[in-house]
Amino acid sequence: MANIELIDIKKNYGPVPAVKGINLVVADGEMIVLVGPSGCGKSTLLRMIAGLESITSGHLKIGGRDVSRVEPAERDIAMVFQNYALYPHMSVRQNLEYGLKNRGFQRDDIARRVTDAAAILEIEPYLERRPRQLSGGQRQRVAMGRAIVRNPAAFLFDEPLSNLDAKLRVQMRVEIRKLQKRLGTTSLYVTHDQLEAMTLADRLVVMNGGRIEQIGTPIDVYERPETLFVAGFIGSPPMNLVDLDKIGGAVTWPGLPPNTDVVGIRPDAFSLTQNTANSVPLTGMIELIEPIGGESHLHIVIEGSSQTVIAAHAGRSPLSEGETATWHVNPADLHCFNKSSGQRTD
Ligand SMILES: Nc1ncnc2c1ncn2[C@@H]1O[C@H](COP(=O)(O)OP(=O)(O)O)[C@@H](O)[C@H]1O
Ligand SMILES: [Mg+2]
Repeated sequence: MANIELIDIKKNYGPVPAVKGINLVVADGEMIVLVGPSGCGKSTLLRMIAGLESITSGHLKIGGRDVSRVEPAERDIAMVFQNYALYPHMSVRQNLEYGLKNRGFQRDDIARRVTDAAAILEIEPYLERRPRQLSGGQRQRVAMGRAIVRNPAAFLFDEPLSNLDAKLRVQMRVEIRKLQKRLGTTSLYVTHDQLEAMTLADRLVVMNGGRIEQIGTPIDVYERPETLFVAGFIGSPPMNLVDLDKIGGAVTWPGLPPNTDVVGIRPDAFSLTQNTANSVPLTGMIELIEPIGGESHLHIVIEGSSQTVIAAHAGRSPLSEGETATWHVNPADLHCFNKSSGQRTD
């Protein structure tokens, strides 16, 4: 096992920068999730760590050893891809054995490793089948099996669950997390799905435009997003970002920090009862109600403005579409930002 150290890593495709200087240490045994929108450089970064893509500048260390210029096979890393990358003409067993044979492992050792991995992943009944005779979830398990048998210093996952349907994705997500905890293998996991990121990560790395926006535990990032981008990206439904210029005097805010021109409010921070004397009142009309089962999402047009916010209420909506009401927000639940810097001001 080992830690992974990224020191000012950059990638240019010709003149175009895709990764603009990443500094990060993945601790031994830690599961870090890189999350960000499509095109922000996640796969490029992962591929540079795997050695599938050259590093334009910066350094990569695995277990303290500088491997920036080392061949992929010499990096002791296993990567799991979205498309599984299984050999279609080989059985599951042969797929699992292949990388080990190539690396010159002894026959008994290979047999033992394949048996162990198959037991861990519960794929013993399918060992003699071809990949096309398996379901998507089973194929994904085989792809993970191929990583596990090598017992590498680290696992790299690039959106491994994207090809699965929603229900299976949730199930496999739980399995990956349990497996990673059980094996204790240092892991970097890439996804564009913020919920997947929140539930899998020891620490989240939120990326945008080839840069890191924020690093922290999922709860820390959720509770205190440091930038407007992170505020809007993490959380579902997303945080309401109220533009003070557009809302004029429609809401009376408490003393906001200097340079604040956007105020963020999570949907669950709205209350129809006033819980503190200094709460912020927001009056608005309910334009639409979305019942999603455990909660209802109320789309509210703030009175005296054209801004809409979403409030989440537990269970059924206490009010109907078209009604006007006043909600209260605790000042501690306001997130203050500056639009032009994109940074938090409080
Ligand atoms: N082989 C390549 N040649 C040129 N540009 C590339 C190549 N691979 C990726 N890019 C560009 O680099 C940026 C980051 O891509 P990528 O790492 O695949 O993003 P993500 O995985 O976050 O969706 C994108 O703008 C993409 O178009
Ligand atoms: Mg990608």
